[in-house]
Amino acid sequence: MKVLGLETSCDETGLAIFDSELIDSDNNGLLGQVLYSQIELHALYGGVVPELASRDHIRKLVPLFHELLEQCGINKNDIDAIAYTKGPGLIGALMTGALFGRSLAYGLGIPAIGIHHMEGHLLAPLMGANPPAFPFVSLLVSGGHTQLIAAKGVGQYEILGESIDDAAGECFDKAAKMLGLEYPGGPNIAKLAESGNPNAYDLPRPMLHRGLDFSFSGMKTAVHNLIKDTDGSGNGADSNAQVRADIAASFQHAMVDTLVRKSTKALKQVGMNRLVIAGGVSANRHLRETLETELAKINATVHYAPPALCTDNGAMIAYAGYERLQAGQSDDLAVSCVPRWSM
Ligand code: KG4
Ligand code: ZN
Repeated sequence: MKVLGLETSCDETGLAIFDSELIDSDNNGLLGQVLYSQIELHALYGGVVPELASRDHIRKLVPLFHELLEQCGINKNDIDAIAYTKGPGLIGALMTGALFGRSLAYGLGIPAIGIHHMEGHLLAPLMGANPPAFPFVSLLVSGGHTQLIAAKGVGQYEILGESIDDAAGECFDKAAKMLGLEYPGGPNIAKLAESGNPNAYDLPRPMLHRGLDFSFSGMKTAVHNLIKDTDGSGNGADSNAQVRADIAASFQHAMVDTLVRKSTKALKQVGMNRLVIAGGVSANRHLRETLETELAKINATVHYAPPALCTDNGAMIAYAGYERLQAGQSDDLAVSCVPRWSM
């Protein structure tokens, strides 16, 4: 079964074809994928401009679809079903992918299904030959979400805890901006942190001893104050290069420490021994390595997708669509997108 996946919830136009006959291949079941990032378009404005995002998705969707078919060496009639991101996200941007996907499916006479963006992230580490088995705890860490979820099967999710303010990725992005680094901040902080001392500054780990919820706004304020006190803003780059690297490393360390401790607590609370991390921040190497070490101590394992499948992409939507269709689900002809949607 070949499922076309479409992701247009924010500033990436992602298309991919998941082919269930390729599950055992070393390509995560993917026949092909294309990804176009609007980062440069929005960089001028210091953040994603919703109207421009929608216009750019519309401009790129059909040419990218054509490119994907060529890459896969197939005809559009070879596609068996279409999955598109239905929410959460920017409403205009969501509607471009949803309408394209629903209309194409109607024209081809095949089923279409709307997917929750975070379910796409959650299931992405399960693509491929040796997926971690259910049940597991999922740590979803993206630019818009930070959640701990007990996943008992496809569609069986219980939220154990979540951020009461900023998301982890958002905090990476804001700390990066304060340090004079470009968007997206996560990978740039990680790079700068390589030459810094993670123990140079003791940043707060908020709500560590209170349940499984997170709070990151205090950490953001602490970084702001630290930059002011040490003049690490990036304006006098040469003289304070080491200070900036130390701030980046200390921030990343505090963030990772918080995520790891809460994840460990969640595993113990629900009596599970598998943690699956997903979303853009799960690409972070320091997070992965610390989880590998810390979870080994409690006989638990950590699982994640290759870095390219951690950030937004069409492949995760195609795969989530495949799983939902296998369970007998599909959507009717009416297109409805949900900009704010709890999983
Ligand atoms: O999942 P994603 O691509 O988009 C959303 O659904 O939000 O996540 C994007 C977030 C951004 O905040 C970005 O800075 C962060 O993921 N990110 C990282 C890394 N790569 C991406 N954060 C830390 N370390 C990374 N290597
Ligand atoms: Zn995402």
